[in-house]
Amino acid sequence: MTQRIIPIHSPNFITDKTLDSPMDWTAIFGNSHPLALEIGCGIGHFVLEQALKQPEINFLAIDIYNKGCLKTCAKIDDAGLDNVRVMRVEARWLMAKGLQPESLEAVYINCPDPWPKKRHRRRRLVNRDFLETLAHYLKPGGDFFFSTDFDDYAEDVAAQICGLTGYHNKLQSDWVHTMPGYPISKYMQRFLDKGQHIYFIHHQRDTAVSRHELPATSVQRGFRVDWQKAEND
Ligand SMILES: C[S@@+](CC[C@H](N)C(=O)[O-])C[C@H]1O[C@@H](n2cnc3c(N)ncnc32)[C@H](O)[C@@H]1O
Repeated sequence: MTQRIIPIHSPNFITDKTLDSPMDWTAIFGNSHPLALEIGCGIGHFVLEQALKQPEINFLAIDIYNKGCLKTCAKIDDAGLDNVRVMRVEARWLMAKGLQPESLEAVYINCPDPWPKKRHRRRRLVNRDFLETLAHYLKPGGDFFFSTDFDDYAEDVAAQICGLTGYHNKLQSDWVHTMPGYPISKYMQRFLDKGQHIYFIHHQRDTAVSRHELPATSVQRGFRVDWQKAEND
């Protein structure tokens, strides 16, 4: 399905997507506060609340959905926040092209598309390859939060991440169903209203493991991205 692209004029929207070198976040935010990334921000409920709670953190909220970016920008602009920027970009593309290794204080992924059909599971964003790659971009001690309503996705991510070098489980169990203080996203609320559980996973980039000890990765090209086109855009 092709998206009708509505231009976004918010000052908090990053239009420069050339990504020919890692982006200069200090210049973009006007300070050198730590950088957190929300992948798949949807229409911005989560990032709005989290950024209000953590004014000392810079948040980059990304989504491939133009209307989601537009609505996220509107929320951030209305709230007068200066610690959030929004970008319409694919997560793996951003990691490969726009980020320095060990540059992220925290990464949040809330209710990613679950691709419930067995034959579509390989389309899921968070898999072993993704997690191995992400470990290179988290700072030592940086946090990774993942939430889903989909039990099979939670089981899969928990099983993958628990066996990976470079991550350390911050919970007493593979997942929990409540995470006090964690903002509720639009999709989380939708599932909670139906009486479904949310699975929360929280790992930290292990400080005892240097980046050079992590498995080398090449970023898997997301099936949604036309990398040739992205490179030529
Ligand atoms: C089910 S929605 C959840 C939105 C929001 N996180 C929430 O919990 O309300 C998943 C979002 O992830 C975005 N998305 C999916 N794959 C992505 C990718 N590879 N990179 C960036 N965003 C992605 C979709 O466009 C969609 O807005």
